Amino acid sequence: MRRININNALPGMELAKTIYGSNFEVLLNKGVILEHRYITQLKGRGFLKIYIEDKESENIVINDPISDKIRIMATKNIFNTYSMTKSILEEIEADATDAVMRNINTSKFKRSFHDNPYFRKLCENIGPFVDELLNQEVLSGLHSIKSFDNYLFEHSIDAAIMALLMGKRLNLSVEKLKQIAIGVFLHDIGYIFIDENLINKSDKLTQLEFEQIKLHTNYGYELLKDIETIGAASAHIAYQHHERQDGNGYPRGLRGTNKIDKGDLIYMDEEKMITIAEIAAIADYYDACISDRPFRAALRPDLAHELVRVGAVSQFNKELVDCFLQIVPKYPIGCEVMIINGRYRDFSGIVASLNRFEISKPKVRLLYDNNKKKIMPFEIDLSADSYNTEMECIS
Ligand SMILES: [Fe+2]
Ligand SMILES: [Fe+2]
Repeated sequence: MRRININNALPGMELAKTIYGSNFEVLLNKGVILEHRYITQLKGRGFLKIYIEDKESENIVINDPISDKIRIMATKNIFNTYSMTKSILEEIEADATDAVMRNINTSKFKRSFHDNPYFRKLCENIGPFVDELLNQEVLSGLHSIKSFDNYLFEHSIDAAIMALLMGKRLNLSVEKLKQIAIGVFLHDIGYIFIDENLINKSDKLTQLEFEQIKLHTNYGYELLKDIETIGAASAHIAYQHHERQDGNGYPRGLRGTNKIDKGDLIYMDEEKMITIAEIAAIADYYDACISDRPFRAALRPDLAHELVRVGAVSQFNKELVDCFLQIVPKYPIGCEVMIINGRYRDFSGIVASLNRFEISKPKVRLLYDNNKKKIMPFEIDLSADSYNTEMECIS
């Protein structure tokens, strides 16, 4: 399996992952043979990358850390929780910030949210979701196929998976892992209270518009803070996931200590970020970076990985960044890469497998030479390579 740019998709290629639309409907099932019209439709809907199965990527396996069944169930429940909550708001007709806050805090609104069957199902399924991830160590590849339309719910799942793998690596209790899961699933729920035109705006936001966008953290917190089934710590993930270690984040400019606090979750220091929110901040940032958004194209995964690494101390909790680097590979399996130095300079190929102890030095299957001519494929192992080979992702 490999990930390709939609512009390189050709009729006859076999789709390797199911693609979902904005209402979580299946657009194309995995195994489908692409036709010209499918490719045009996918482009029209804003899908910029897809996964295909072909001869060149034979035996390259991207293991999803969760089963299709659990992923689909969680995604569906998140999608429906968001849309049902949005429909309650429309009945109240809120517009200005104060009015939204008041509406969110009415007992009618809170009750409707709490009694939302999809939200209840989402909470019930947290256990199985966390259980499946307890068997996983690292993230081998990138997972969902995102478009502008399905971004919010696919992003919530992918960020939750990453955050949980970090939590597991840190030996956090299952109770805390569950708090991370529900908190990250719903971390951006505040967006439902914000004008969609603003969220999908492709031009640069004005300062005033950015202030509106920032409010998704306050709205999310207001909605979640007294829902018993969630717990206050999870609500703080919605509140704090854009805060940064140096105090330059939003909405409150909280700071971090660059240390991991494994203590009790009940205590909330008013000035400091809580560890589970710091975990969420990293997972949210990385996943947002590698996703195509209306206002910018996705960053290359290796570049996004690098931004997290250099963001340690000032933006992200240093100890948690160290943990992230052990879990998320710089070059995910299935990504197309180009060698940029040494003996195989300008050769290109696909990340074939990860090395367990050095996940950012994978095995790469080279398919094209420096003249972009197809070659007899062969693999090089960057962890055992004396040339200090460097590369860049190209898909
Ligand atoms: Fe956010
Ligand atoms: Fe987010």
